[in-house]
Amino acid sequence: MNVEVIGGRQWRGKFAAALVFEGADSLPGMSRAEAKRFLAVAEEEGFRGQKGKTALLRSNQGRRRLVVAGLGKRAEFEPERVRVAAAGALKQAEALGAVELGLLLPEASGVPGGLPGFAAAAVEGMLLAGYRYTEHRKAKPDESRPPAELKVVAPGKPAPALARAVDEATKLCEAVRYARDLVNEPPSRKAPEMMAELANWLAKPGRVTVEVLRKDDLVREGMNGILRVGAGSHEPPCLVHFRYRPKGAPKKKVVVIGKGITFDSGGLCIKPATGMDTMKCDMAGAAAVFGLFRLLGHLDLAVEVHGLAPLAENMPGGGAQKPGDVIRHYGGKTVEVLNTDAEGRLVLADALAWGSTLKPDLMLDMATLTGACVIALGDEVSGVMGTDQATIDKLVELGRQTGESFWQLPLPDSYRSHLKSKVADIKNTGKPRVAGTIAAGLFLKEFVADKVPWLHLDIAGTAWNDSARDYLPAGGTGVPLRTLFALLRGL
Ligand code: BES
Ligand code: MN
Ligand code: ZN
Repeated sequence: MNVEVIGGRQWRGKFAAALVFEGADSLPGMSRAEAKRFLAVAEEEGFRGQKGKTALLRSNQGRRRLVVAGLGKRAEFEPERVRVAAAGALKQAEALGAVELGLLLPEASGVPGGLPGFAAAAVEGMLLAGYRYTEHRKAKPDESRPPAELKVVAPGKPAPALARAVDEATKLCEAVRYARDLVNEPPSRKAPEMMAELANWLAKPGRVTVEVLRKDDLVREGMNGILRVGAGSHEPPCLVHFRYRPKGAPKKKVVVIGKGITFDSGGLCIKPATGMDTMKCDMAGAAAVFGLFRLLGHLDLAVEVHGLAPLAENMPGGGAQKPGDVIRHYGGKTVEVLNTDAEGRLVLADALAWGSTLKPDLMLDMATLTGACVIALGDEVSGVMGTDQATIDKLVELGRQTGESFWQLPLPDSYRSHLKSKVADIKNTGKPRVAGTIAAGLFLKEFVADKVPWLHLDIAGTAWNDSARDYLPAGGTGVPLRTLFALLRGL
């Protein structure tokens, strides 16, 4: 979808959408009297602006069509409602075959964030709901298509702040859509070396640099977690290192890490077929890192950002690591591998230890790490753990605004005993069926330098959707890229 902001007088199109609060008595671009007539018609269909409801209105002998979508009660407002309503309106417009859609903004949004915030959320809802993954199939004959053109129609002359907000939302959604594409890509088409190749395309002179550490580099650095997890595959593992430098002197340095298991068969501790069929999504953390750096090629931040994506395919080939093996990770800590399916923490251990040496002001990792997190929090809420309570609080609050939910789990010191090993410093599993998400978090914590504030996001449940919901399609969701960007922006 091509997005453009235009002034009210320039809008002549056939299909428009408007988002309205419950009980509203006006519609954008219309006189009160005209709006009243329209809303009376909508009410006959049962539409009064309720949350989750849409209605279709016709004017000019049916030549012009207006989709109205409800925002619910003004007093209950949250930005997420704008996204959901916009997504509903988009789907209606799609079904009508709209090629060009005008998003009619009200005079004043009457909500926190003002008109720019309102417009940005609406554009997000539409761009994210209009996503399709069609790389490997033909369109079905009856399949609707999102409009090619989205015109954001300002009430008067568009203010620069409005244009800026829409432009930023558009770029953000492009990055999210890219992350979704990567997650949806078949596993054999995104092996670590292919991902590294893609990473190189994200380099932007003067902004984003990309470096890839391959076998020899990983051996030299002692990144044996990445090497051993990748050892059971014909596809060699690697570590992608992105770096963004702001124009001025950076205020802060952040390291962002994403688990990049391009396919998780479980390794020798092989998964049952039913647990394996979605495991191409096991690089969703890395996909968020890729999406972030795609975005940083176009949008400015005041902080220096390093992105690390440890990439490996977890397979049970002849070279595969075996239960009982011991890994010496970057930095020297040793781990007894008792389950080769707990591989994410092994690749992350190297990245966290290595990232710590950059002495960042914040280190954050994102990983489809534990099935236990899906059991605890389901597919709408990600787990968050870490050592920097103020930033965790900020992330949870930002998640409320972005519509990506997070819930904090504790990291009690006493549970570290679950990781005790008889032969190495720690083992890669906790107690069976006991606090699996926390045990994984505590495992990661072992590799974070004491002085580095650190957050861990477990996105096992949220990075992938079995079926579509609101503006999230089935398949890769792009979570948690929007919240990550909001967090970095606020530093
Ligand atoms: N990639 C999986 C976790 C996962 C499960 C992600 C479901 C998305 C959906 C991870 O590598 C894994 O297999 N974890 C094991 C750990 C266990 C062996 C300690 C798990 O959660 O069962
Ligand atoms: Mn696994
Ligand atoms: Zn995994």
